[in-house]
Amino acid sequence: MHKTEKSQQLLALANRVIPGGVNSPVRAFKSVGGVPRFIDRGEGSHLYDADGNKYLDFCCSWGPLILGHADPDVVAAVKAQVERGMTYGATTELEFQLAEFIAGQVDAVEKIRFVSSGTEAVMSAIRLARGFTKRDLILKFEGCYHGHSDYLLVKAGSGLVTFGNPSSAGVPDAITAQTAVLPLDDEDALEKFFAHYGDKLAAVIIEGIPANNGLLIQRHDYMRLLRALAEKHGALLILDEVITGFRLGMGGAATYYGIRPDLVTYGKIIGGGMPVGAFGGRADVMDMLSPVGPVYQAGTLSGNPVAMVAGLTTLRKLADGRIHSQLEERNRRFVSSMMSHLSGSAVNIAGVASIYWIVFQRDLPRAAQTILADGIAHYNRMHAGILEAGLYLPPSGYEVCFLSAAHTDDQLAEAATILAKAIKKEAHAWG
Ligand SMILES: Cc1ncc(COP(=O)(O)O)c(C=O)c1O
Repeated sequence: MHKTEKSQQLLALANRVIPGGVNSPVRAFKSVGGVPRFIDRGEGSHLYDADGNKYLDFCCSWGPLILGHADPDVVAAVKAQVERGMTYGATTELEFQLAEFIAGQVDAVEKIRFVSSGTEAVMSAIRLARGFTKRDLILKFEGCYHGHSDYLLVKAGSGLVTFGNPSSAGVPDAITAQTAVLPLDDEDALEKFFAHYGDKLAAVIIEGIPANNGLLIQRHDYMRLLRALAEKHGALLILDEVITGFRLGMGGAATYYGIRPDLVTYGKIIGGGMPVGAFGGRADVMDMLSPVGPVYQAGTLSGNPVAMVAGLTTLRKLADGRIHSQLEERNRRFVSSMMSHLSGSAVNIAGVASIYWIVFQRDLPRAAQTILADGIAHYNRMHAGILEAGLYLPPSGYEVCFLSAAHTDDQLAEAATILAKAIKKEAHAWG
C-alpha cells in the first residue's frame, strides 16, 4: 500500500484554512474517495506526491501540460523572464508575439485579448457578444462546462429547452434567466430553438469537443448546422477551445469540424502551465472592446509576461505539428491496446487527439443525458486501485484523461495493461 501519511496530515492542516482543503473542488477526491494526494513535484510524465509516491500522470493539470511537467525549454524561458521582472502592468512585446502567433495559426482569430483564466475568457467573450449584438440571450448545451461565471452555472431542467436553472447556490435566477440550455446532438431541438428565439440570441457557446462531462465527440453535421443557424439569426458562435485549443492540433476544434466561429476562447495550453486565458475572433467584434469600443474588460495581470513566454515557448514547440501527430498516434495505439483486452465487456474508451475517456457503457455517448450514472460509479470505484498501481487518473468518472509528449511508448504500454486489467475486473462486477 502507498504511504499517504503526509498527504493526510497536509489535508488536515489545509482544511483549517481552506474550504475542503482545496482551491478547486474536484481535487478533493469526493467522487472517488480516498486521500487526495498533495503533490510535491512534477517531472515529464510523472507526478511525485508528498509521501514520495510516483505516478504516471494522465491528468496533466487538466490539460495545459501537453509537453509534460517542467519541460526544459519552458522552464528556461520562464526563468529568463522572471529575472527581468514578473509583471509590469504595462504592455510588452511578448503579448504581441503570442497574439500574432495565435492569429497566424487560427483562421477565425483576427484579434485576441489575454486574460488570466478560462472562466475570465468566456465571461468576457459573452459580454462582448452581448455588447456587439445588443441582445441578451445566450444558449449553452447540457454537459458543457465554460467556467464558473454566474450566467453559465446553469443546468438543464425537465423540458427540451430550459431557461435559468442555476446549478450553484449563490447564483440568482434573474441572472440565469437569460441563459437557455439545450441537449447536445439534437438537430431538431436546435432548429426549434432558433425558430423561436434565434432573433433574440446574442451568442451560442459550445465546447470545441465537450470534454468536461465525459468526452462527447459531436458530429460534424451537427456543428455545421449550429454554425449556419447562428449566422442566419445574427447570433455569434463562440467556440470554447479552453481544452481543445492547440490540443486537437494547431487549428483546434474549428479545424477539426471545418467551421469558422465568430469568437474563440482559450486557456490551458496557451499558458504553458501558467494562469492564462484568451478570447479572440472577428476584428469587427473584438474592436468593440475598450479602449476602442464600449464593452469594458480589463485585468491587472492580463498578458502577464511570465505567462506569455511560457505559452509562446509551448506553442512554438507544437507549431510544426510533429508533437500533435505523435501524440495522436500514441493515443490511438494506447486506446486500441486497452480495447483489445476489453472486447465483450460493457466498457468503451473514447479517444481523440491526445484525450481519452473511459466509460462503463457499450456505446459512446454524444450527449450528457445518455451517460449512465452507474457506469460513472464504476469508474469512481476503480480509481483508488489504479492510483495504488501508480497511475494518476482524474478523480471523477466525468473527467477526461490527457497524454503529454513526455509519455513514452513503454510507459503507455505498461499503463494500458494495468488499466485494462482494472477495467475488466470492474466491468465483470458490473455485469
Ligand atoms: C471548456 C472549458 N471552458 C472554460 C473552462 C474554465 O477555465 P478555468 O478553469 O481556467 O477558469 C474550462 C476549465 O476546465 C473548460 O474546460
